[in-house]
Amino acid sequence: SLVTSEQMLLDAQKGGYAVGAFNVENMEMLKAVVAAAEELRAPVMLQTTPSTVKYGTLETYYAMAAAEAEKATVPVCLHLDHGSSYELVLQAIRAGYTSVMIDGSHLDFESNIALTKRAADAARACNITVEGELGKVGGKEDDLEAEADNNTDPMQAKEFVERTGVHSLAIGIGTAHGFYATTPVLDKERISEVKELVSVPLVLHGASGLSDEDVRECVSRGMCKVNFATELRVAYTDAGKKLLKEHPDTFDPKKLGTVGMEAVKQFVKNRILVCGCDHKA
Ligand code: 13P
Ligand code: ZN
Ligand code: NA
Repeated sequence: SLVTSEQMLLDAQKGGYAVGAFNVENMEMLKAVVAAAEELRAPVMLQTTPSTVKYGTLETYYAMAAAEAEKATVPVCLHLDHGSSYELVLQAIRAGYTSVMIDGSHLDFESNIALTKRAADAARACNITVEGELGKVGGKEDDLEAEADNNTDPMQAKEFVERTGVHSLAIGIGTAHGFYATTPVLDKERISEVKELVSVPLVLHGASGLSDEDVRECVSRGMCKVNFATELRVAYTDAGKKLLKEHPDTFDPKKLGTVGMEAVKQFVKNRILVCGCDHKA
């Protein structure tokens, strides 16, 4: 059955590797991620964003994840990614999610703490793990703005974790969601500085478009969970496009799903190896 992210992230922190957290949009992507984790004996996190749960509903993703986790022999966690409100966090927990993120990173420091603590208190009462975010991960449009002032202040990170009680913390180091127009400037030293002061596992967002070397260095400096979203969506859709180009008469969704699943599985296996979480389950 589904597990929280607590033990897998603490094990990663202790072992100096990161758990891969993969955003899924449908049954095929979800099955592909679990199959990849199973083949490489890796603990794994499946995650869905608010726009994804609006598309498919929390209950549907939960049912699919629970069914796959039941068959799996590796630990599988189902996580709400970028939870946008206290209410959505509660809905996810009620639906059966075993981990949640409350994202107050757009708020000022005190408001972020207030929102995050409220969500963390509720989640803890249900034995569910909580990820908070301090500092900013850039969006698709502002590649040039992901500069130092969006990066997390280590002293503030320490205070944030102590006052909110989060189990893990996403920090800004210059990454952005989506692909990068130009090579991102990552403040990797910042990870070591935050790790020095913060006891909980650290989370890297926006990993699509980062080189294997960049991901490896971020992990070796203390990132214990790495989020991949855009790359999976592209891998899935490109496989379908290729099939339709080669066989324009394709009409069976199973054919499209099968090539998409295979592409996502290969991609996830590569990223699991880069994160170093293979053979840790
Ligand atoms: P990417 O889309 O850049 O992989 O970012 C993933 C992410 O941070 C999901 O929360
Ligand atoms: Zn993110
Ligand atoms: Na990215």
